[in-house]
Amino acid sequence: MLMTGISRAGLAGIALSALAAAGFAGGTPPHVQRAPFGHTPEGQSVDIFTLTNKSGVEVRIMTFGATLVSLKVPDRNGHMGDVVLGFDSVDPYLAGVPYYGATIGRYGNRIASGSFVLDGVTYQLPKNNGPNSLHGGDKGFDKRLWSAKPFETKLGPGLRLTYVSADGEEGYPGQLTAQVTYQLHNDNSLSIDYKATTTKPTVVNLTNHTYFNLTGDPQHDILGHLLTIDADKFTPVDSTLIPTGELAAVAGTPFDFRKPTAIGAHIDADNEQIRFGPGYDHNWVLVKPKPGAMTTAAVLSDPESGRVMEIRTTEPGLQFYSGNFMDGKPSGQGTVYNHRTGLCLETQHFPDSPNRPSFPSTVLRPGHTYASHTVLIFRTTK
Ligand code: BGC
Repeated sequence: MLMTGISRAGLAGIALSALAAAGFAGGTPPHVQRAPFGHTPEGQSVDIFTLTNKSGVEVRIMTFGATLVSLKVPDRNGHMGDVVLGFDSVDPYLAGVPYYGATIGRYGNRIASGSFVLDGVTYQLPKNNGPNSLHGGDKGFDKRLWSAKPFETKLGPGLRLTYVSADGEEGYPGQLTAQVTYQLHNDNSLSIDYKATTTKPTVVNLTNHTYFNLTGDPQHDILGHLLTIDADKFTPVDSTLIPTGELAAVAGTPFDFRKPTAIGAHIDADNEQIRFGPGYDHNWVLVKPKPGAMTTAAVLSDPESGRVMEIRTTEPGLQFYSGNFMDGKPSGQGTVYNHRTGLCLETQHFPDSPNRPSFPSTVLRPGHTYASHTVLIFRTTK
């Protein structure tokens, strides 16, 4: 995370009393600390929680957008580096940065023409991305204040965030109660678990929009990172990035990441799908022994620092977005992130599923619970 206006000293938190009573105060990890992080335009306080595990790995999560703000993990020499892009107060996020670290909902990714039919009723959503609706509309879950509850188990410290989305919010039917639980495990993995229930039939696709840069230095781009994705197929898109419905083989295309491949190797290939990106901005169809199985979706590594991140998920798809629209424009308090200095690996159901009966369903009905699990596992190589 780049430093902007607020000093780190200003963020020194107070150990939560419940955890203090349990013996986690006084700076001895593992623990959770809370500190103020600014205010929403409506004047509501935004908090940031710092979770630290036994080895000193540290993750910070704020209540605005249930957003992952920073994540410090060691390189091969044990030096800690922040491997996600983020800011030092809520202000740049309020100024409209593109979903940095945020929880995305009610529907992650695009819905064609911002409309879908469910049980014979047509629903119209905001078109906030050309002709389509993206990441939950004008004011998705990334722009909402979540309530947060820290906890601690023998696995490590955690934070459970809840947001109740009103019936009709951003055009979606049903009151949706969404819950995201982050837990930093003592084995240097971070689990992100989603749950949701609804009062009326609706569609749900929750994900996290963290931009990773394993170098720990966002001045470097991510083109030298090696990526493996466990997928034989991807979902090709039209020029507005809506899937055509085809599941195309990756073999022999720039979309073949079945073996570790440098992100920069084919990112400028003469290929229509790459031109639409421009670059990688596509959904890969993960290989699964059965729907909902927890499997390794991707492995990302930085040969320079030796940092490796493995992503495991129950989701059927993975959106790999190579930061193509990062434009280096100063945002908020002057922090600048240049073109392709971060990449997103969004575990998800496929884009535009509400309009594609052949894709795995994203419909949630009353009486059922939406559940989705993702784990980021950090390690190093020599
Ligand atoms: C989308 C990109 C979009 C980005 C915004 C990604 O999930 O696939 O097309 O520009 O989010 O940050």
